[in-house]
Amino acid sequence: MDKKKDKQVFEYVNPQALKWVKEHSSNMTNLMAYYKCAIMEVETKLNVLNEEFSLQHDRNPINTIKSRLKSILSITEKLERNGLELTVENIEEFLSDVAGIRVICSFTDDVYIIANALLSQDDITLIRKKDYIAHPKENGYRSLHLLVNVPIFLANEKKIMKVEIQLRTIAMDVWASLEHQLRYKKSFEFSEEMAQELKKCADLSAELDYRMERLRRQVID
Ligand code: GTP
Ligand code: MG
Repeated sequence: MDKKKDKQVFEYVNPQALKWVKEHSSNMTNLMAYYKCAIMEVETKLNVLNEEFSLQHDRNPINTIKSRLKSILSITEKLERNGLELTVENIEEFLSDVAGIRVICSFTDDVYIIANALLSQDDITLIRKKDYIAHPKENGYRSLHLLVNVPIFLANEKKIMKVEIQLRTIAMDVWASLEHQLRYKKSFEFSEEMAQELKKCADLSAELDYRMERLRRQVID
C-alpha cells in the first residue's frame, strides 16, 4: 500500500489549513508553478552538464534525475509542525524542500564534479551545503545536499526560487531507498540491533563505491 496515498486519504487534515488553501488557491497555484519552473531550470542545467561531460569523456556522470514537488498537504503540515503561520511568505522563506531534485550519479567523484559545475554557474546561489558523504549521518546515510537559489524568468518579472538538490551514487541511493521503506513502516519499532545492521549495510555500500571508484580511475579518466 502506498503510504503517501494512504496518508492523504485517511489522515486528519486541519480544517483551518484546508480553509486557508481554498482561500489562497490562486496564489498557491502560482507558487507551485514557480517551483515547478525552478525544477525545470535546474534539470536543464544538469542535463546540459551531463551532455557536455559525455561528449568529452564518453560516459555519463549522471545516471538518473528524479524530481518532486512537495504536496500542498505536506507543505501545510510542515509549517504547522514547525509552529509557523500558514502564509505564502513563510513557505518561501522557511521551507527549503518544496522543490526537490535527486541526482543519481555513477561514481562518487561524479557527485562532486556535477555539484561543483552547477555551483560555479553565475545564476545559481548556494544557500546551504550538507556533505553527508564526507560526514555520513550516524545511521549511515550518505548524500550531498545542496540548497540553492535559482532565478526563473516570467513575462514581467524575475523570481528567485529555492531548490533542494540531493546528489548521490547508485549505491547510496539503493541504501537510502531501502532504509526509507523500512523506516516508514511506522508500526514497527527499530531495535538497536537492526539499526546496527543497517549501518553495516551503509558501510558495505560505501566500500562498494570506494572500490568501484578505484577501478574507474584505472580504466577511464
Ligand atoms: P527536513 O527536510 O525537514 O528533514 O530537514 P533538513 O532539510 O534539515 O534535513 P536534511 O537536509 O538532513 O535531509 C532532508 C532530506 O534528506 C530528507 O527529506 C530525505 O530525503 C533525505 N534524508 C536525510 N536523512 C536521511 C536518512 O537517514 N535516510 C534517508 N533514506 N533519507 C534521508
Ligand atoms: Mg526535507
